[in-house]
Amino acid sequence: MTLNTLPSWSSLQAHYEQIRDARLRDWFAAGQDASPTRSERFTFEGAGLAADFSKNRITDETLRLLVTLAREAGVEARRDAMFAGEIVNPTEGRAALHTALRATSASAPFHAEVAAERAKMAAFANQVRDGHWTGYTGKRIRHVVNIGIGGSDLGPKMVVHALHHLATPEIATHFVSNVDGADLARVLEQVDPEETLAIIVSKTFTTLETMTNALSLRDWFIAKGCPESALAKHFVGVSANPNEVVKFGIAKENVFEMWDWVGGRYSLWSAVGLSIMIAIGPDQFDELLAGANDMDEHFKNAPLERNLPVLMGLIGIWYRNFFGSQSYLVAPYSEALHFLPSYLQQLEMESNGKSARLDGAFVDYPTSAVTWGEPGTNGQHAFFQMLHQGPTIVPIDFIAVLTPEHPLASHHPKLLANCFAQSEALMLGRTLEEAHKVAGPDKPELVPHLVFPGNRPTTTLLLDALTARSLGALIALYEHKVLVQASVWNINPFDQWGVELGKILGKVVEADLTAASVDEKKHDSSTSALIARARAALKR
Ligand code: F6P
Repeated sequence: MTLNTLPSWSSLQAHYEQIRDARLRDWFAAGQDASPTRSERFTFEGAGLAADFSKNRITDETLRLLVTLAREAGVEARRDAMFAGEIVNPTEGRAALHTALRATSASAPFHAEVAAERAKMAAFANQVRDGHWTGYTGKRIRHVVNIGIGGSDLGPKMVVHALHHLATPEIATHFVSNVDGADLARVLEQVDPEETLAIIVSKTFTTLETMTNALSLRDWFIAKGCPESALAKHFVGVSANPNEVVKFGIAKENVFEMWDWVGGRYSLWSAVGLSIMIAIGPDQFDELLAGANDMDEHFKNAPLERNLPVLMGLIGIWYRNFFGSQSYLVAPYSEALHFLPSYLQQLEMESNGKSARLDGAFVDYPTSAVTWGEPGTNGQHAFFQMLHQGPTIVPIDFIAVLTPEHPLASHHPKLLANCFAQSEALMLGRTLEEAHKVAGPDKPELVPHLVFPGNRPTTTLLLDALTARSLGALIALYEHKVLVQASVWNINPFDQWGVELGKILGKVVEADLTAASVDEKKHDSSTSALIARARAALKR
């Protein structure tokens, strides 16, 4: 399939030419925004979430054409193939069944394996939470250190932070990912070996960063007096490669399994989420899964015209492929969702940052936008200037939680007000005429600086409250959005070959940094000179 030859693609191009200069401000203007209003026409609900798409540069016709594009591109068939466990990741010969991890039906693929592993996780998590699982001196566990990187870190870290209000106060959860020793060293300053449990999470159990940190942590336990024979009380492993976990020295009964049909960045629902389960307990973990399952059902069953992941994916394509937007911003107005943007960076860009189509040809259209973000209101005082007045259009997802999860409720109206006001300001802008009024007769030279172009597109996602269930639905919403876009772009969102070359060369350079001598012509002049400087510094 060549995307550009689909009938809806050329219709969308023609439609784009028609509305590219239309202004949201006019569409919303009093007297023009007749009943049903834009807000009513373009706000949709699913799985307990509401999405207001009305401040996007779309009309009813835009959505009609985009949904036709989804149909012509076979989005429904790709979705159904994924849920059915077909090989939707052909370059690795794998299914992508993260949805099976939260399915409720006994007929879902791998139901028995998933249920058995979840029960094992729950039994273990309960022992750690209630103090029955003790360290080598008999003390209860007060610190959990999750060692993993990428999908073995970002999802659990994001969720544990988001659901802090539901977590047991008895246990602090720490995350170590970077091979920079500063990351582990910082955590080791805060924990006591007698009360610390390490969860080594790696799908492959070969990842350089994770193995390096795991070995250093093991050495630290021994240096602090933990007998080798008692390490089993302090180390558990999560992997799709259990033999490697045992080879590392983790007791067989302390190995939790995930499977090759779960992609790393889609894996927080599996045993990769063990740190989440220990923090919030098995019942709340089930709620997280239930929320994701709510979104799975919505994605499977809601008509495309009202289907949240479908609409989010398509509107993203509208900006990426027609308006030429290079990036999109996620701005959660929730400190609890602090790590959502970094989690989404991997989900979006490792999944859809591809140039090869499924049929092996190269795309001749852009794929994944650069995903970035920061919680509001912080971003307003940092980079929002560019969003309001820079020449580049950056579509934004605002995420607001209507009720606070913390006791300082008086802050909440200020937080929500800022979120809603930003989308209003970005949409309205300030005209030349209005800028003149603001500048006043004495300062006409200020006028160009006071003009805001407006017409900046935003989507606002609303959660009633930040619960495990609503968070599960929100994460699954983005997972499925990514699939929708991959389906339209005809790429495989479940592999990540692009990370390989750097890893291979990293091993070569590491050897060169420590070798007795190194051939100065082995690398390009830049890399050779960098290695030479580092060799000199490492010798000092
Ligand atoms: O290098 C990229 C990657 O393979 C990600 O896809 C993955 O989430 C991460 O590394 C960690 O991999 P693992 O869980 O196998 O340690």
